[in-house]
Amino acid sequence: ANDQRESLMIVTNWAAKFFRETLWNSDDGQAIGLSYFKERGYREDIIKKFELGYSPEAWEALYERAIKEGFGEEFLQETGLIVKRDDGKCYDRFRGRVMFPIHNLTGRVLGFGGRTLKTDKKVPKYVNSPESLIYHKSDVLYGLFFAKKAITEQDNCFLVEGYADVISMHQAGVENVVASSGTSLTTGQIRLIARYTKNVTILYDGDAAGIKASLRGLDMLLEEGMNVKVLLFPDGDDPDSFAMKHGAESFKQYIAGNSKDFIFYKTDVLLKDAGNDPIKRAEVIHDVVESISLIPDDIKASVFIRECSLLLNIEERLLISELNKLKLTAA
Ligand code: CTP
Ligand code: MN
Ligand code: MN
Ligand code: MN
Ligand code: MN
Repeated sequence: ANDQRESLMIVTNWAAKFFRETLWNSDDGQAIGLSYFKERGYREDIIKKFELGYSPEAWEALYERAIKEGFGEEFLQETGLIVKRDDGKCYDRFRGRVMFPIHNLTGRVLGFGGRTLKTDKKVPKYVNSPESLIYHKSDVLYGLFFAKKAITEQDNCFLVEGYADVISMHQAGVENVVASSGTSLTTGQIRLIARYTKNVTILYDGDAAGIKASLRGLDMLLEEGMNVKVLLFPDGDDPDSFAMKHGAESFKQYIAGNSKDFIFYKTDVLLKDAGNDPIKRAEVIHDVVESISLIPDDIKASVFIRECSLLLNIEERLLISELNKLKLTAA
């Protein structure tokens, strides 16, 4: 099985090189792929660091080259680089897309995300490598290989949604950042972060989906014993668009000045929805205590209960009895 995994990784790393060379050395790669990255504001050193690439438009460009170089069809299929049709014909999964290789902790490529350059809403924005023997998307965090040193040094990890967010933040000089890449955050991903730090700041997109994902993510992080802060971007922005619009210095100031402890964040978000309706406001209190009840450390939990009591102007003993009820039903 280890031989099999090694063979697959040789294929994916070869493919990464193929996409990279296509980006830098082919006419289409330069005119379409490289121009796209440059229009988005990516510097050449950053494009190189993340080993970004471009996949040719043709249906069988990678397939033909791989076969010529002696790679077995079954490996190309297992890694998802090619798709085999019912009639036995094979074609490239990634065509005419800018390519984001996904690395493991030692910097080897396990799979890819490919972004379309079309604005047509019917074309999926990203096509990703399928699950394979070497790529389990729920156990991978995009960017971790490039971030792990900075995460340890800063003792904090920024968690973002997408590939572009990770890359723009590096370009802005913030390197302790990883992305869950569209999949909802998993326990496996959290445990990967926990090897380097217990402190996570969620920086999700400033839209309804981002808010929803942040509330779910913060509960999962609390459950794993992490300290959680959250920062929400203005509606319509994500870390990438914000950094490109405002520049590195304002970006860094914004994240330093607007990260909130999870309890303030959650209270703020929910109270905005509740308005002055007393029943809804009571539900907010329940929901916040529910998050606190997930914290494994009782002392930390009691600190947040006190915070919550001050914040919402509710007697602490009421919150504690609610907390104990929740813990009993959970146990
Ligand atoms: N994603 C995906 N498939 C999609 C849409 C999104 O896999 N059809 C994943 C990608 O990893 C993407 C992340 O979810 O990076 C966040 O999605 P989104 O915010 O829509 O994309 P951005 O990363 O902001 O991409 P861009 O800035 O290039 O539009
Ligand atoms: Mn989004
Ligand atoms: Mn759980
Ligand atoms: Mn986004
Ligand atoms: Mn974006």
